[in-house]
Amino acid sequence: MQIIHPISGMQRTADALRASGRRIGFVPTMGYLHEGHASLIRHARKQSNEVIVSIFVNPAQFGPGEDYQAYPRDLDRDLRLIRETGGDIVFIPSAEEMYPPGFATSVHVEGLTEGLCGASRPGHFRGVTTVVAKLLTAVKPHLAVFGQKDAQQALVIRRMVRDLNLDAEVLIAPTVREPDGLAMSSRNIYLSPEERIEAGGLYQALRLARKMVQAGEREAPKIIQKMRDLLSERPSARIDYISIVDTQGLKPMDRLTGEVLVAVAVRFGRARLIDNVILNL
Ligand code: PAJ
Repeated sequence: MQIIHPISGMQRTADALRASGRRIGFVPTMGYLHEGHASLIRHARKQSNEVIVSIFVNPAQFGPGEDYQAYPRDLDRDLRLIRETGGDIVFIPSAEEMYPPGFATSVHVEGLTEGLCGASRPGHFRGVTTVVAKLLTAVKPHLAVFGQKDAQQALVIRRMVRDLNLDAEVLIAPTVREPDGLAMSSRNIYLSPEERIEAGGLYQALRLARKMVQAGEREAPKIIQKMRDLLSERPSARIDYISIVDTQGLKPMDRLTGEVLVAVAVRFGRARLIDNVILNL
């Protein structure tokens, strides 16, 4: 497994791989990898010849007072997991090279970034799209794989790739969960044992929404109220949002039709966790 730090080194390697007809699959990450990341690597593996994983804790997508400094890091463990899962190249750029003095350019997707996490984390998606655009121009992948766990992020990136004619296919892969349903996340490490148990409520709330829809409920406010009631029974839960939106424009819906995204963001102690399910009506 090869490790590459300089952006130009990554670009020359990508050029050589493309020239020799290799199909490049790419999984961008912020490290502290878990089974969710591993599943994205396996998806990339299946659909490409060369799998490149990037590790970069991107300062531009953290707001003031968010967990950029505290974000968990363990490079040795990450490299072992990538090797064992079938990654070929690990791209680890430095913050100095990604954001040199005088850096003044950003990529912003309008509309899709306004609601859900965009409303509570101003500037977050601008940071995400800017770094992903930069990573795509460094790695030059044929295929880039993202997780449905961060559904809004994946849809925003898919829109950016389409709008800017970036030459990569975007694949969105299913969410990998713990046995109690909690979506795997690098931030789960922040949870105390009690909070960890209560965090299972996130997926229970999403399952409740699915059950209500299956039973014929179509009024979003009623579903959201039941989800809120369920989460309110967990003393450490602080709800950021519970939203039901259409998967095209991510706009809130009152009456559910078509394909809808049920998305939640809840704080348990110092961990802000998000999760979602997509329902077809
Ligand atoms: P990070 O949180 O490390 O996640 C990297 C990728 O793994 C994202 O596409 C995310 O959706 C996916 N992922 C995380 N948990 C998952 C789970 N339980 N199941 C399936 N996929 C999961 O998301 C980022 O980093 C950054 O914003 C990034 C895109 C790298 C830009 O900095």
